This record gives sequence, C-alpha cells and structure tokens, in this order.
Amino acid sequence: MCLLALAACDGDAPSILEPRGPAASRVESLWWLLLWIATAVFLVVVGFLLVAVLRSRRRVIVEREVSWGDPFIIFAGVVLPAVILIGVFIVALRDMSDLSERGRTADITLEVVSHDWWWEIRYPNGAISANEIHIPTGEPVRMKLLSADVIHSFWVPQLQGKIDHVTGRENYLWLEADEPGRYRGQCAEFCGLQHAKMAFYVVAEEPDVFEEWMGGEAEDAATAPVDGGEVFLNSTCAGCHAIRGTEATATVGPDLTHLGDRETLFSGIIPNDRDNLERVITDPQSIKPGVAMPPTDLTDDELAVLLDYLEGLD
Ligand code: CUA
Repeated sequence: MCLLALAACDGDAPSILEPRGPAASRVESLWWLLLWIATAVFLVVVGFLLVAVLRSRRRVIVEREVSWGDPFIIFAGVVLPAVILIGVFIVALRDMSDLSERGRTADITLEVVSHDWWWEIRYPNGAISANEIHIPTGEPVRMKLLSADVIHSFWVPQLQGKIDHVTGRENYLWLEADEPGRYRGQCAEFCGLQHAKMAFYVVAEEPDVFEEWMGGEAEDAATAPVDGGEVFLNSTCAGCHAIRGTEATATVGPDLTHLGDRETLFSGIIPNDRDNLERVITDPQSIKPGVAMPPTDLTDDELAVLLDYLEGLD
C-alpha cells in the first residue's frame, strides 16, 4: 500500500489532475464533479449511520413501521439517486461526445500503429518514427489508431482520455496540447509481458517548430560514417529495421532513420545514450525481457562503428 502511494509520487508519472490540454481539462472537471458528489453522498450516509448508532446506544427505539411506500424511502432511495445518476450520465455523455473524434475537426492526421511492445508513428508527409509523437501546440491533431497484433490502449493522461487500438479496426481520437512540452503516454490495456514498459512521449511544439521537425523527419538518413552503415546492413539489424535512404527497408521493428533524434529507447523506458544503445544491441532481453529483438553478436570494433553510425542518425 505504501509502495503504491509512493509510486504515485514519481515525478515522471503523469496525472489526470494536471491537464495540459482542453480534452484533459474536461476529464479533470468530470473527475472532480464525481468526487464531490460521491463525497456528499458518503457524508450523508455516514451521518445517518451515526444517528442510528447513537440512538441504539441511548436505547431510543423509535417504533415506526417502515414500508416501501414511506415518502422518505421513495425520496432518498429512488428519486435522489435517480436524479444524481441521470445528471452525471448526461454530463458524461456530453463530455464523451466532445472528447470523441467528432468533437473537434483537425487539419493534421497522424497514424499510430501499436505493436508488441512499441508504437509506430506515420506522419502525413511520409515521415515514420517510433515511440515519440510530435504534435503542434494549440490545435487538435487527429490520431488514427491501428494495431498490428493484439489490443493495446492509447493513453496520454495529461492530454486526453484513453482509447483502444483494436486489431482489424480503425479508432480515432484528437489530441491537443496548450503548451510546448513532453507528455508521457502509456499502453493502458494488458498486451503481454512488456505491457507495463510500453510507454511513449508526446512532444508538443510550436507549430513552426513542428513543421520544421516533420520536414526533417521525412528526409533520408545521413549517410556518413559509412563503416557503421555496412555493419548495420550485414548484421541482423537490417533484418528488422529500416533506415530510409539505405538498403535497410524492413518494417518488423521501429524505423531508425532518425534514431539520434529520439530522447528514449525501447518505448520510452531508458534514455537514448551510447551506453543504453550498446545494451539494447548486445543484450536487449536484460532490459526488456520478452522483446522480439535478439542479441546482436559483434566484435568490439564493429560495435563501436555501429554505435557511431546510429548516434549520427539525427
Ligand atoms: Cu500494449 Cu499494453
């Protein structure tokens, strides 16, 4: 219990009570409304309970036949709950409609394909990336959500409610961030061994910064240094990953064309630095047991030039 409470204090854990966009603000308002109503009902019920306990202690027995036709029972047991529940239902329906795809019209649509256990992001200009979703601030962005395997769930608590990626189906959602920032997202539907480590980040940027980023992301990879590129093509790496502009075009794993540009590795769980990149290549199972990526057997020299090459992909 203490651990659970402490876990909620982790600075990186996003809270729906710290909304950073209009959709999340609606979710927060609904949360507070439900909390206050539930608190009021709880206090009233506890109040009645106390009265009953005190009366029984003082042996004040009120001889009164209580039947279903009693006006108090009708009011407190039927009318009041019905009014509260119908009211909350109407407010929730209104919010659900506003938060759904039909709630806002967006100029940009991004495609997010969920895989066991990572996220593939496709931009309208052809750029493909993984695990970091860039969006412009101050406008709704339409997300087309697909699954490549099992059911996953897309949740960025500070920006929107959650919605499932369902196999064989397209689901839609809009995301909007008020301010530039990095907002953590998480798969919210159990999808296998590494479900808990299926995270991602939404990077919200000023619209002109976003446009520039998206333009750069659509470009082919930087070609130098060539040695590392050859190691990549001749090892198992190229069997799963694409680097646009080279002969590596596989789509089993994340597109690595601009890997150096990402702040995290392995679906948001470790910082993208040279040491972690080395561990991901040589011993991925130690970081993410069950991940589809096999260890890559390389000499020290090959590993060094491969790391140089991958770090240069920005
Ligand atoms: Cu993907 Cu849980």
